[in-house]
Amino acid sequence: MPVYLVMLGAPGAGKGTQAEIISEELGLPHISSGDLFREHIKNKTELGLLASEIINRGQLVPDDVTIAMIRDRLARKDCANGAVLDGFPRTPAQAQALDSILAEFNGKVDLVPYIKVEDEVLIERLTGRWTCRENGHIFHQIYNPPKQAGICDFDGSELYQRDDDKRETVIERIQVYLQQTAPLIEYYKKSGVLVEVDGDHPIEKVTENLMAVLPNR
Ligand code: AP5
Ligand code: MG
Repeated sequence: MPVYLVMLGAPGAGKGTQAEIISEELGLPHISSGDLFREHIKNKTELGLLASEIINRGQLVPDDVTIAMIRDRLARKDCANGAVLDGFPRTPAQAQALDSILAEFNGKVDLVPYIKVEDEVLIERLTGRWTCRENGHIFHQIYNPPKQAGICDFDGSELYQRDDDKRETVIERIQVYLQQTAPLIEYYKKSGVLVEVDGDHPIEKVTENLMAVLPNR
């Protein structure tokens, strides 16, 4: 049976950073809705044009197109054994849609690591983030600096600061998270799959705590 994990947490909590590490550990693809949208924006697709303006305002892309994009991604061959989802679902409607999609693939949401971090920390993390142009690898100017400034350690591509990592947009994203995504904590608590992980530690320590709750490999 396939295994599906959903990384939950506020913008900047470390979902992407940890998903990158544990997806490798579990041998499952890392599926980030934000990365998929940024790919569409880069390729100037119709969805990219729609998403770009919404993302730069810190709002959420409409459920219907987001759900369709994730369904397509999960139907690909590399997801046959499951996936680590990051940034999806983000609304109760998306969570319900995910349950139906996974049921089609004879799966379910098996574990939801909820990375918990105080709001003040989030702003500092996001305004100091540097992202790799080619593959979305994540760095931080203080907490996880690249070996060479402006260059990705993994693929040598350029590092850039996301447009939505400006302070005003970050504040809006946190508000949107609290209103629309935080209710999912209760949703997954009720179904018994939520595990809370304290995200207010150095990256390696958070990884260690996450590993301790992962399904047996
Ligand atoms: P998305 O790309 O998903 O952004 P997000 O949820 O706002 O989350 P982030 O990527 O900002 O944070 P993260 O938790 O991944 O943190 P990271 O590991 O990078 O979405 C962008 C936009 O797309 C949304 O605003 C929305 O418009 C749209 N969208 C996406 N999905 C959608 C959906 N399902 N529905 C509708 N719209 C959707 O870490 C952050 C920084 O902190 C990095 O610099 C990192 O190096 C550093 N760091 C990480 N961990 C630690 C640590 N333990 N200690 C110190 N520093 C750390
Ligand atoms: Mg991310």
